[in-house]
Amino acid sequence: MKYYSTRHLSTEKASLSFGDVLFSPGYSKDGGLYVPEEIPKLGNEELVEWKDLSYRGIVKKILRLYTSPSELTDDDIEDLVSSSFQDFENPDEVVNMQQLEPNVFVAELFRGPTLAFKDLSLNILSKLLEFYLKKEKERRLTILVATSGDTGPAAAHSVANLKNLDLVLLYPLNRVSNVQELQMLTMDAPNIHVVAGEGTSDDLDVPVKELFCDTDYAVANHLGSLNSIQWGRVVLQTAHYIYVYLKCCSRIGRPVTIVVPTGAAGNVAAGVIVQTMGFPIKLVCSVTVNDIVARAHQNGDFSIVDVVQASLAPAMDIQAPYNVERVMYLASGGDSDAVRQAMDQFEKCGRTILPAVLLDALRRAISESVAVNDQQITDAIQKCYQRYHYVVCPHTATALHYVFNRITTSSRKGSEKAEEEEEVLVCLATAAPAKFADTIQSALVGVNPTNRRLEQMKMLHESNPRPAKHTLRRGDDWNAQLRQIIADI
Ligand SMILES: Cc1ncc(COP(=O)(O)O)c(C=O)c1O
Repeated sequence: MKYYSTRHLSTEKASLSFGDVLFSPGYSKDGGLYVPEEIPKLGNEELVEWKDLSYRGIVKKILRLYTSPSELTDDDIEDLVSSSFQDFENPDEVVNMQQLEPNVFVAELFRGPTLAFKDLSLNILSKLLEFYLKKEKERRLTILVATSGDTGPAAAHSVANLKNLDLVLLYPLNRVSNVQELQMLTMDAPNIHVVAGEGTSDDLDVPVKELFCDTDYAVANHLGSLNSIQWGRVVLQTAHYIYVYLKCCSRIGRPVTIVVPTGAAGNVAAGVIVQTMGFPIKLVCSVTVNDIVARAHQNGDFSIVDVVQASLAPAMDIQAPYNVERVMYLASGGDSDAVRQAMDQFEKCGRTILPAVLLDALRRAISESVAVNDQQITDAIQKCYQRYHYVVCPHTATALHYVFNRITTSSRKGSEKAEEEEEVLVCLATAAPAKFADTIQSALVGVNPTNRRLEQMKMLHESNPRPAKHTLRRGDDWNAQLRQIIADI
């Protein structure tokens, strides 16, 4: 399996290995994102064979499909995957399925060490990085991550204390939850360097992308990424879609609709890969008032507005959803010319109207999109608690908002829609409610979601409070400051 950029020229051949892509700056030289030359397709028989696989079993299959045996042998994969997920609540059943209605489920993807869905992919990704670093002892990596809240803690937890690897972690000051901030600040490892920035996560993405796109600098300084520009992370996220499908489909071949709380579209990009592999999943994106993905999907308006609004679901408050590029590429069957033209225009002007070929592709891949405001998030948290005595985080609530509307519409349509009733709906629960306790407490009087790990962490911080090592002040030259931080490591 070889890789190239979403913006490759039609004459270009894919030449990079999985390891090359893993250790490259997230973006390719031409500004695009890495994708495999083709997505492996599975037939119905294979889907049936996969039906009873465990989560680990699915990860092994994925790694085999997307890497060459010459770089990762079957034994390597076996070793890597068997030692993974040890710090999850239940290492053998890392995703918990919660059934709300006969045909409605919540897939709890947050049962890992930092209580966010990112733990699922980063747990394996860090093992892969370690594997390559051990194999080539001279190899070094400086990972640069800008987080909107959950990638930061999960990335720090997964790579803490790894040799020959440093993590420079940028988070937007006052725009992440207290818990998320503490999860980063209390990470006690010499290779983690936390940087607070006075801006939004989109603002932080700007200098990060500048450093990645300065190819000579990025290569000389061994820059790498754990954000979802990183192909390794996106491909490992396919495991939870496959797991959900195999667990919930009424029978192999029947569709399952998966509702995805969406920000930068890395998670949904993994869903589109799974669709392309042949799993009959329908994808719905729920977004916050920062609705660029919904506007792009609904009418081709791929344009950034002036201000990122702070919503109750901060990890989804994104205006530049970089993985839409991968989604359009995959859904259009690899139309790199159309993708390059659209993305060039988007990057130059902050806006573009998607051409029909990409808009149609986006609509084929994503069945529906819905923008959910704060009041609707609160209503969904309340309704879910009243109906099922079940608490969801504000991000997950955006997906439940869609599901509640859907349930109402189908019951209005009545029983003549038997076909539709058979449809299974699954909401991806992307973070634990305890991470957003303030929001939950204001929505649900008397309910205080807690978590043992978080309580320990708060106590640790109270006994030894620590600010971020570095701060990027508004108006300063962040690009130069980041270069200095990296040089000082
Ligand atoms: C809790 C939570 N939900 C949803 C998302 C959105 O995921 P993506 O950016 O891959 O669309 C994130 C990403 O940061 C998240 O942390």
